[in-house]
Amino acid sequence: MEDHRANANPDHPDLRDYVHWHTAYDDPESSLSIRLRHVQRAISTWLAGTAGPVRILSVCAGQGHDILGVLSQCDAVDRSRVSGALVEIEAANNDVARHRIEELDVNLQVVRADAGLTSTYAGLVPADLVLLSGIMGNVSAEDIERLVHTSRQLCAPGATVIWTRGAQGPDLGPDIRRWFLEAGFEEVSCEEWIEGTGMRVGVNRLVAAPEPLVAGETVFTFYR
Ligand SMILES: C[S@@+](CC[C@H](N)C(=O)[O-])C[C@H]1O[C@@H](n2cnc3c(N)ncnc32)[C@H](O)[C@@H]1O
Repeated sequence: MEDHRANANPDHPDLRDYVHWHTAYDDPESSLSIRLRHVQRAISTWLAGTAGPVRILSVCAGQGHDILGVLSQCDAVDRSRVSGALVEIEAANNDVARHRIEELDVNLQVVRADAGLTSTYAGLVPADLVLLSGIMGNVSAEDIERLVHTSRQLCAPGATVIWTRGAQGPDLGPDIRRWFLEAGFEEVSCEEWIEGTGMRVGVNRLVAAPEPLVAGETVFTFYR
């Protein structure tokens, strides 16, 4: 994948330019576009298996291409039963998502905040679907394990978590799958090496009881 560090956000010099990062979605053949379609399929499958109002939380939502792409293909009835929040730290990404949300006329709020802090989620949880797309390749193994366990605090009973992690070394896929089981989630599916890209998309469902949100804790910090 292209390295965007040369365009790093001056506010966060160690991080990639996560506005430009989204231009990979302009190419339908890019590995990120392929991953996006699989995440969208997982969201559509989840939505089709639900009835009535559902709440969605997208953590590090970027421009919201996954959930908003799905909602753009839904009928008005399904769109009207979805609510929730997209948490994202980059203002320009917030703006893109807000614009699309207005166009779609869906009940989603865009929250500009640090998604790595549990305090951010006060008032935004519990959610029936938690999206963790594009996080686990950019934070440490310890942070991923903590995120998996903490996601139980973000979930309503029986909630689904959709997550991604590439196969870059070290390949943490087996660990992540085990951490979800240890955290009280069953595995619904885990697509490995999707279409030969090295991308991985996992779907897990909470079978243990949710945990109350514990504010004031740091869960993860992006390192690139
Ligand atoms: C790899 S992108 C994934 C975006 C989106 N989830 C997707 O899959 O298309 C990671 C996103 O996380 C955002 N991000 C990084 N650190 C964050 C933080 N601490 N809190 C909220 N968002 C953050 C970046 O700005 C970027 O938009």
